[in-house]
Amino acid sequence: MFWKIGGIIVSAILIFSVALVANEQLRLASLRKDYVRPAEIPYPDDDPYSIAKVKLGKTLFFDPILSATGTTSCATCHRPDRSWEDGLALAVGDNRQALKLKTPTLIDVAWLDRLGWTGRFHSLEQITFAPIVSSSNMNMSEKDVVARLSSIPDYVRGFSAAFDDGAITRAHIEEAIATYERSILSTDAPFDRWINGDENAIDASAKRGFLIFNGKGRCNECHSGWAFTDGSFHDIGVAKDQDMGRGQLFPTSVKLRHAFKTPTLRDVALRAPYMHDGSVPTLEAVIDLYDKGGIARPSRAEVIRPLGLSAGEKADLLAFLKTLTGAPQPIAVPVPPR
Ligand code: HEC
Ligand code: HEC
Repeated sequence: MFWKIGGIIVSAILIFSVALVANEQLRLASLRKDYVRPAEIPYPDDDPYSIAKVKLGKTLFFDPILSATGTTSCATCHRPDRSWEDGLALAVGDNRQALKLKTPTLIDVAWLDRLGWTGRFHSLEQITFAPIVSSSNMNMSEKDVVARLSSIPDYVRGFSAAFDDGAITRAHIEEAIATYERSILSTDAPFDRWINGDENAIDASAKRGFLIFNGKGRCNECHSGWAFTDGSFHDIGVAKDQDMGRGQLFPTSVKLRHAFKTPTLRDVALRAPYMHDGSVPTLEAVIDLYDKGGIARPSRAEVIRPLGLSAGEKADLLAFLKTLTGAPQPIAVPVPPR
């Protein structure tokens, strides 16, 4: 009799735990669907892909000829060996003075509709000349850029190969560089292998962290989808005082005050320090900032509230963020033609 009741209790417990695990598996399975990578890079109709444009755009991207002193290229700040940023809190221009913003990564930038920390730019073509002609950045004029490139036979050939009329113009420079930038992609990370079914690709702590990311932490409300960004703007409690972010462009909007673009979290472990002003030194400090719940003010995003994460939950979240680091991709840096 005793053994029988014992057996029934043991079976009940077993069935209950199997059901719990099955439920967890189902939840994971449905979450995983949100994280599948798109099959193709989106190229705009008015600037379609061509191999000649990518080649020219890449050469231009790595060429310091686009800066006043001839020492700063796009890649000085968007470094391929640093996940396409520079590891500095604030970017440093051609005149060796610091800018007001941190260099953002360029991985998966083809999918962003609004560019820059405040979304001032709406296409990769449109943003290209902003750093080139900014006096605090590369400090060149459009005229001088065109003149310098026109005097180099390899560039004359490169523009002829990439464009029907072969003209060296601002529009063609923009199109070539933008086409190259669309090829800058994140690579498969342990997280992707797990999403694709390899249960051992990430450990138990990271799997718990994934559930916190999508649950208690509500991180996925903004870092959504396979690229871990909604491409939108929020006040999470980093900016202070006159650092208005997108609010500067929309002065009547309360919610856009102190709001900056949600960055992708792919490769995020490689990109310390963090945030638009480089003010948060480590991922641990980022997690603590979210746990605190931002700054209570009218612009604070709805979902930013104190989270009450335990030390274990913080460790799990960190373990998950580290699974987003892709395999290194060696880049053959072109020699600037002269
Ligand atoms: C001195 C460092 C520096 C140089 C050089 C530089 N950038 Fe940037 N880049 C930045 C900073 C800082 C931002 C953020 C600007 C903003 O938010 O307004 C940025 C933003 C961008 C973005 C938007 C990314 C996003 O996620 O929204 C693109 C694209 C970009 N740069 C491309 C280029 C290209 C192309 C060149 C060369 C023609 C270049 N950059 C040169 C520092 C630099
Ligand atoms: C309300 C939207 C929102 C939520 C929710 C949110 N984030 Fe963010 N996240 C942002 C924005 C916006 C930034 C950039 C803020 C800035 O630079 O001022 C950011 C920046 C980051 C950064 C720094 C990335 C970099 O390249 O500098 C990390 C890491 C990060 N978030 C992780 C998380 C985690 C983990 C959670 C959940 C605990 C979370 N985020 C929840 C919007 C959000």
